[in-house]
Amino acid sequence: MNMENVHILDHPLLQHKLAILRDQNTGVKDFRQVVSEIATLMCYEATRDLPLEEVEITTPITTAKFKSLTGKKLAIVPVLRAGLGMVDGILTLIPSVKVGHIGLYRDPDTLEPVEYYCKMPSDIAERDVIILDPMLATGGSASAAIQFMKNYEVKHIKLMNIIAAPEGIERVQRDHPDVDIYCAALDQGLNEHGYIVPGLGDAGDRIFGTK
Ligand code: PRP
Ligand code: URA
Repeated sequence: MNMENVHILDHPLLQHKLAILRDQNTGVKDFRQVVSEIATLMCYEATRDLPLEEVEITTPITTAKFKSLTGKKLAIVPVLRAGLGMVDGILTLIPSVKVGHIGLYRDPDTLEPVEYYCKMPSDIAERDVIILDPMLATGGSASAAIQFMKNYEVKHIKLMNIIAAPEGIERVQRDHPDVDIYCAALDQGLNEHGYIVPGLGDAGDRIFGTK
């Protein structure tokens, strides 16, 4: 499989936390908490290329030049519903980041994404965007979400998923070869209902306790 633009984040802490998410006995409280923690750890890696500039700082001892973020404009865009579970974890590291929302659900028969909500920061075209969704299955939702951001003239887009299937990665690579994909696991594939195997089940239902 072509792994161009694909970043598998396999830090031991991520692997440990992901095993907790996969466990069918993990309840809604712990599931939410761990999704958030995973998002924080993934954010640390996915922002590794943020640009720095030199600033002069006076410490209690002396004045010297140090590195500081340039203040490049960023936004995160969770895909409703399940992407919402990753927002708090990102805000832990980047508290001032702007947040746009895309509402998509996957039609259970066709597996095609259906849009039902969209609200973006007014200056979204000037921002680098990280799209958040725990699951990249067929890739239909992610591909549609990326296309929305391109329709808003966003130039730099990253996709952050906790678990990806090869089918989803291939779809995003085909439709949007310019997008970097960050995930904590690449699973075996999809079952006949389009669920990731072994996966963790329905992420939205497990985060919101709807099943
Ligand atoms: C899930 C998941 C993704 C999508 C992935 O959402 O959060 O958005 O499925 O599947 P795909 O790659 O085949 O498009 P779902 O449609 O279940 O909606 P929900 O978050 O509201 O539960
Ligand atoms: N959406 C989910 O929530 N889980 C899957 O395994 C596939 C799509």
